[in-house]
Amino acid sequence: MKAYYSTAYGGPEVSQYGDFPDPSAGDGQLLVEVKAVSINPVDYKVKQGVAKLMSGSKFPRVFGSDFAGVVKTTGSGVTQFKPGDRVYGASPVIWGKPGALAQLLAIDQKFARAIPAQISFEEAASLPIAALTALNGLRRCRVTEGKEVLINGATGGVGHFAIQIAKSKGAIVTATCSQGNAELARKLGADETMGYTKEELAKSDRKFDAILDTYGKMDFNDVCRLLKRGGIYATTQIKPFLIFSSLLTQVLYGKKLTSSNLRSKPEDMDEMEKLFLDKKLYPVIEYYFTLDHSAEAFELAESGKPRGKIIVRVG
Ligand SMILES: NC(=O)c1ccc[n+]([C@@H]2O[C@H](COP(=O)([O-])OP(=O)(O)OC[C@H]3O[C@@H](n4cnc5c(N)ncnc54)[C@H](OP(=O)(O)O)[C@@H]3O)[C@@H](O)[C@H]2O)c1
Repeated sequence: MKAYYSTAYGGPEVSQYGDFPDPSAGDGQLLVEVKAVSINPVDYKVKQGVAKLMSGSKFPRVFGSDFAGVVKTTGSGVTQFKPGDRVYGASPVIWGKPGALAQLLAIDQKFARAIPAQISFEEAASLPIAALTALNGLRRCRVTEGKEVLINGATGGVGHFAIQIAKSKGAIVTATCSQGNAELARKLGADETMGYTKEELAKSDRKFDAILDTYGKMDFNDVCRLLKRGGIYATTQIKPFLIFSSLLTQVLYGKKLTSSNLRSKPEDMDEMEKLFLDKKLYPVIEYYFTLDHSAEAFELAESGKPRGKIIVRVG
């Protein structure tokens, strides 16, 4: 098969498009003909080696998590799927497991889900990591009708889904983004927009019930100033002292800090798909690459400035 694979941890200098051994479906696995992959920050972070201990040292290997495709064959013990089924999911590229940037992907059936008929391969591949993280973040922030929510980094992968999900819950949404993306944020449903620099945040005298920091690196003082008493802040970044800081801010200021991680229970997937099918959630996809141009897709992702999702078409 053709694949975009790496021979070591690193950037484009250790990655190439070319022939790669075909995988086969093991017990409980599906062999999927990949049609589309979306690139998330976690993909370039893992590819660069930031999670070496978890990700493993097996090379050459293929990276890429969010995928959509068609089941080609099934291994023994597979009961939920059959050849020809359209499936999508996030391939966990840990312990040396293969990623999706290839024509074929062997994946445990528990990581795959049928694609509803109304959802295209590209749309399906854009959803899992970003939309489920947005969904969980807003849940952690207890966002409900009438709540005033600030979404930081609101037109990127997680943020652009977060605006739409918050609006579907009846929240009043303020989105931070660079000036050129304000119109997109409004189109996605944001009631207000503002810049995210320290100076721009300092101009705001607003107070929010919740802040979903999809970018993840808001200054602690800005967070405390912008949150109402009893408000909740959730970040997508793993912060080692978050529990300690949260206890302190709760005692001192009555404000809660928490994390917004990907959660992908079946009920989360159900909720995400229902939002899509009810036309309350759609992916913004402005960038399409082919598998042999995966390096450019990574380069764009690493710029940290994409609008919505980046798609690599395969096959
Ligand atoms: N913990 C988890 O489970 C989990 C899951 C998913 C993602 N994440 C993490 O969440 C982060 C965001 O992911 P993503 O997919 O949304 O990334 P993305 O698609 O690359 O989007 C990044 C966004 O950040 C904005 N931005 C850039 N500089 C900023 C700043 N100083 N302050 C505020 N916003 C800024 C950009 O806005 P402009 O283009 O307008 O400048 C862009 O919209 C990544 O670090 C990712 O690894 C974590």
